[in-house]
Order: sequence, then structure tokens, then C-alpha cells
Amino acid sequence: MEIPRLKIGRWEFLRPLVQGGMGVRVSGCPLVLAVLQEGCLGTLTSMGLGDLSHGMSNDDFIRTSREALLREIRMLQEHTNKPFAVNVMGALSNAKDLVATAVGAGVKIIVYGAGIPRNLPSIVEDPDVALVPIISSARLARIILNQWKRYSRMPDAFIIEGPLAGGHLGFSFEQLAHSSDFSLVKILREILEIIQPFEQLNGRKIPLITAGGIYTGDDISLMLSLGASGVQMGTRFVATTECPVSDEFKQAYVNARLEDLHIIKTPVGMPGRVLANDFLRRLQDGVIPKPNCPFHCILSCERDASGFCVAERLDNSYRGDVDNGLIFCGANVHRIDRIMSVHELISGLMEEVKASTLV
Ligand SMILES: Cc1cc2nc3c(=O)[nH]c(=O)nc-3n(C[C@H](O)[C@H](O)[C@H](O)COP(=O)(O)O)c2cc1C
Repeated sequence: MEIPRLKIGRWEFLRPLVQGGMGVRVSGCPLVLAVLQEGCLGTLTSMGLGDLSHGMSNDDFIRTSREALLREIRMLQEHTNKPFAVNVMGALSNAKDLVATAVGAGVKIIVYGAGIPRNLPSIVEDPDVALVPIISSARLARIILNQWKRYSRMPDAFIIEGPLAGGHLGFSFEQLAHSSDFSLVKILREILEIIQPFEQLNGRKIPLITAGGIYTGDDISLMLSLGASGVQMGTRFVATTECPVSDEFKQAYVNARLEDLHIIKTPVGMPGRVLANDFLRRLQDGVIPKPNCPFHCILSCERDASGFCVAERLDNSYRGDVDNGLIFCGANVHRIDRIMSVHELISGLMEEVKASTLV
């Protein structure tokens, strides 16, 4: 199969592969830079950056997050002039501030997930800045398309995250229990159908980028042959040399077995796929000390009911204390058997796509 380029708004990428945003420093500058150098789109996270100590006030939290995001953006801009994306979670109490910070610093692509970006076009009016909502259903695609009519704007692409993805999942536990009814292929087909009239009306294609469980070149070819313009991957990028997480985090991926995968409700109020570890066992036994967090980084956070702080636990894994950390992962994590460079991963995948007969 010939490898198509990926166009998002006015920005073009040689290869139709996106490295997904991964919170609490997982998709930090070194990973994003390596991905950009391969002609793909890299996504910087804006969540859980900076030294977020538990004694800080809400204002300190907002300022620390903003300054840390600016540092990451500047670091990338010092090394490349290629466009990259910043991922903002709509559930964050400082989401608007992070979007404005990224755009003010010259970021050209905003990827917005974990919330409905109802008024994103009013925060980002520059048409050169591509707006890319993350969705998990045709219903949400329709809501956004209808809402954005009032701004005479359409998304520059949608990222469609299916039930096999890493991180928080946009599905209920019941839906996840019947995941074949909500497969990525099914959702892609539904969205391709509903966006048609909007595309015709605006005379412009809305690229669809599929994510969740994509592992091989054949998986990528299948998505492209079904009408996706590109794919997004997360889990495989964690297991790369350039990903800034600890070796312990990466090794947990290499050691993962299928039976180690669990879906839990996180304090955010959404399901998340995680690896079994000491922390999870203690959490299930109810022996985790209650967190004491004065700032409310996630609007929907039920930290008292859930008994832990998701950012703190993700940060523990990032730093290498995986026994006390939350290890987010996608459904295919058990297939990872070694750490490789971003170059090896992407060039291997592209060779597989070229050789794929799935067209
Ligand atoms: C460790 C980890 C953290 C993630 N954090 C975020 C996040 O903060 N925001 C987001 O939109 N998606 C997040 N994701 C989802 C990824 O961006 C991506 O869409 C997903 O992992 C794709 O599925 P895959 O892991 O099977 O390739 C995360 C995924 C992982 C594995």
C-alpha cells in the first residue's frame, strides 16, 4: 500500500501517524521531537507538568502548570520548526488557560479530549491553528459539528478513540463489557457517514484519525483502507528509548501479560485501563492513605470517594516508583517485548504498511 500524507488544517505530515498526548509528562519533549523527526505528528501533553506539590494553592497550580507547559513548548521550538500538537484535557480546571498558553506560544494544533469542546473556536479564533477534538462516538461528532456551526468553523480533524485505547476511556463500564458493539471500525464507519453532509456543506474533508489498540502496519493499513486519514498510537510510543518515563515504567510494559490488564474507575469518574501492580492490589484492599490535595486540577475529580490522586499516582510511575503508581496502558500492551527507538518503531511500521495486502 502506498503511504498517504496526513493533512490537518493547513499542516501536512509525511506519514499518517500521530503520537497521542499522554499525561503527566509521558509525552514530553524528547518523545515528541523524535516523532516529528520521523515525519509524523507528535503531541505534547499539557497535563501534570511542573512541580505540583500538594501544599500549593489553586492559583499556584495554574501558574506552575502554565510555566511548565511554556518551558516544554520553548524547548521543542528550539529544536524544530515543524508543527506539533498540544493535548488539553477538557476535564482540567485550567483547560482554558492551557489552550490560551499553547496558542499564545505559537502552537499550531490543539487536540482536545475528555470533555466536549463546545466553545473552543471562541477561545482559538486564529484559523491557522488546527482544532482537533477527541471523540468516541458518532453522537459526539454530531454534537460538536452542530455546535461549531455558530462559529462557522469545523474541526480540522477528529481523533476517534476506541475502547482498546490507553488512558481514560470515553465509554461506560457497560459499553466496555460489550466492546464488540463499540469497535473502532464500527465507530469509524458511523462517523464517516454522519460527517458527509458537513463536508459537502463546507467543501472540505474532515480527516479522521483512529486510535486504540493499533499495533502493526496491517492495523494501520486496515484503518486507511476503511477511510481513516491517519492513526494515533500511544502504548507503543511509551516503550521507546526516547519516551521520558522511567525504565521501571517501560519494563512494566515489557513484562505485562494479558491477565494483568484491568479497567478501573479513576477519580476522574471515567474508566481507565491499567496494569495490575502492588498499588492496585492495595487500592482494592482499601489500604491506600487518603490524598490531601488542596487544588482541584480535574473538575470531575472524586478524590475522596476514590481514595487516590490520579496525577500523583501517574507521576510515581513516571519517576520509577511503579509499586506506588498507576500504570495506564492500551489493550495491546502485553504484545510489547522490548524497548526500541522511535525511528525503529516508525520505520518498521511504515515498512509493514507498504508490504500490507489489506487494501
Ligand atoms: C500512559 C498513557 C497516558 C495517556 N494519557 C492521555 C492523556 O493525558 N490525554 C489523552 O487525550 N489521551 C491519553 N492517552 C491516550 C493516547 O493519547 C492514545 O490515544 C491511546 O493510547 C491510543 O491507544 P493505544 O495505546 O492502544 O495505541 C494516554 C495513553 C497512555 C498509554
